[in-house]
Amino acid sequence: MKPFPTTKRVQTNLLRWFKKNKRDLPWRRTRDPYAIWVSEVMLQQTQVATVIPYYEKFLKTFPTVRSLAGANLSKVLKVWEGLGYYSRAKNLLQASRIIANHLKGKIPENLKDLLGLPGVGRYTAGAILSIAFNREVPILDGNVKRVLSRLFAISGHPKKTEEYLWSLSESLIPKGSPGAFNQALMDLGSMICTPKNPNCLSCPLKNLCKGYLSGKPESYPLRSVNKKVPHIEAIAAVIQKDGKVLIHQRPPHGLLGGLWEFPNWRIERKKDLKEYLRQMVKRQIGLIVKCKEPLGSFKQTYSHFKLTLHVYHCQIVDGIGNGKWIPIKKLKLFPMSKITRRISEKLLH
Ligand code: ADE
Repeated sequence: MKPFPTTKRVQTNLLRWFKKNKRDLPWRRTRDPYAIWVSEVMLQQTQVATVIPYYEKFLKTFPTVRSLAGANLSKVLKVWEGLGYYSRAKNLLQASRIIANHLKGKIPENLKDLLGLPGVGRYTAGAILSIAFNREVPILDGNVKRVLSRLFAISGHPKKTEEYLWSLSESLIPKGSPGAFNQALMDLGSMICTPKNPNCLSCPLKNLCKGYLSGKPESYPLRSVNKKVPHIEAIAAVIQKDGKVLIHQRPPHGLLGGLWEFPNWRIERKKDLKEYLRQMVKRQIGLIVKCKEPLGSFKQTYSHFKLTLHVYHCQIVDGIGNGKWIPIKKLKLFPMSKITRRISEKLLH
């Protein structure tokens, strides 16, 4: 794409603004590509403030790509616990092993090899290449899409304009400063060019911004209609014996893969929950139980659905059962999703 007449001014204004206003973030105090990669993976779908403590703990626990490659999945999930989107942690671990075993422990410095790693898409590869290696490679995430859509008044359907936005992002990169420029776009998107009530008066690009000059910056980009997320309900059994409780590990792939949980089943109707739970425990765990008082109903929102989990204490009448029996005090050692951790905490107190 040819540069726009305003390209140079966009670059100069944004870089000058970034120099003065950039956020002091822990991953900006390093040029270590491994640390920058970890930060970019954590920052997908997650706020900066949430990421900071996880980033610090992760790098303290796994300071190098080889130390991560040598860790087991449970340990990595335990450090990731609470951050959500756990397949990110699994992909990070898998990719670190490829790097340690096949790439001499060096993070690739080119797009093709980076994109070959599990969990590394065009955005993450662009962020690593531009920030850690100062390569002139573009980025495009939600913030940058919004900034560019406003700057150029792009109102097409998000799916149809994506490629065009990538080429715009590429065409704007100033020679020699891709890392600073890309991060400036991110900061502008999260500090000034916010989804609602953008602070246009403080924006270094306001005089160049077609969205601002149109008087309706908020109308860019076109908002996709919020799809209603389904509500799923499920029942779970807390089965205790001699101070221990029964937990199961989820299969390694798929939602919350590798995390531990109390045996649970989806329900289609809310009648006779205790009787249904008793039958499922008998059929699938091989235990005869009596379902007793509720421990509570717990809610959690995931990316594609909402979950309400109705949890009951169950008393064993007969049988051995399958799964892992864990002393209640040791539950904290097992990686769990947020909802399961809340149930565990309630058991402890
Ligand atoms: N969001 C995604 N990547 C980021 C970064 N490197 N700095 C700030 N916010 C970000």
